[in-house]
Amino acid sequence: MAGILQSLNKTIIAGIALTILLLIIMSYSYGLSYDHTFWATISRYLHVLSGIMWIGLLWYFNFVQIPNMPNIPDEQKPAIGKVIAPAALFWFRWSALATLITGLTTLALYYGHQGAINTLLLTIPSGFDSPRNLTIGIGMWLAIIMAYNVWMVIWPNQKRALGIVEADAETKAKSARTAMLFSRTNTMLSIPMLLAMVAAQNLA
Ligand code: HEM
Repeated sequence: MAGILQSLNKTIIAGIALTILLLIIMSYSYGLSYDHTFWATISRYLHVLSGIMWIGLLWYFNFVQIPNMPNIPDEQKPAIGKVIAPAALFWFRWSALATLITGLTTLALYYGHQGAINTLLLTIPSGFDSPRNLTIGIGMWLAIIMAYNVWMVIWPNQKRALGIVEADAETKAKSARTAMLFSRTNTMLSIPMLLAMVAAQNLA
C-alpha cells in the first residue's frame, strides 16, 4: 500500500480503479444502465471534481499563500515564486478550463438545447419561468466571469509577476497587485456562485 501512496500517479490510478469498482457495484445492485442519465451523471461528477481542484487552489492562494508571504524570509521567497506558485498556477488555470467545459456539457445534458439557451439568457426570453434555470444561470455567469479572470487577467499578470515573461521591477509589482485583486474578486464570487450551483437541482 505504501508503494502506491508514495507515488501520486499510482494514487490517482488507485482512486480511478476504486471509482470503477463502485460503478460496477452500483451497476449490479440497482441495474445501472449506460443511458443519457448515466452520462449526465458522469459529466456532473467530472464537473465537481475539476471545480474542487480549481476553487481549492483559489482558496489555497487566498487563505494560505498570499497572507503568509510577508512571514517568509526574503532569501526563501524564491521557493514559492519559482517552484510552488508556478506548479499551483498550472493546475489552477487548467482545472478552471476543465470546470467550464464540463459545466457547459452538464448544462447541455441536463437542460437540452433550448433549456441551455434559456438558462444562459437567465430565463429572460421565457419570462423568468424557471427558478432552477435562473439560479444555475446566475451561478454559471458568476463562474464564467471567474474563469475569464483566471485566463485573461490573473495568469497574464502572474507570468509577469513571477518572471515567467520579462518585465521591469515596477511592472512586476503592478502585475502582482492586479493578480492579487482579481484573485480576491474570484474568492468573493465563489461564495454566492457555489450556493447557486448546489441549490439549482432542488428547484423546479
Ligand atoms: C465555469 C462555469 C460553470 C458552469 C457553466 C457550470 C454549470 C453547472 C451546471 C449546468 C450544473 C447542473 C445544475 C443542475 O443540476 O441543475 C452545475 C452543478 C454544480 N456545479 Fe457548476 N458550473 C460552473 C462552475 C462551477 C464551479 C467553479 C464549481 C466549484 C466547485 C461548480 C460546482 C458545482 C456543483 C457542486 C454542482 C452541483 C452538483 C450536484 O449537486 O450534484 N461549478 N454546474
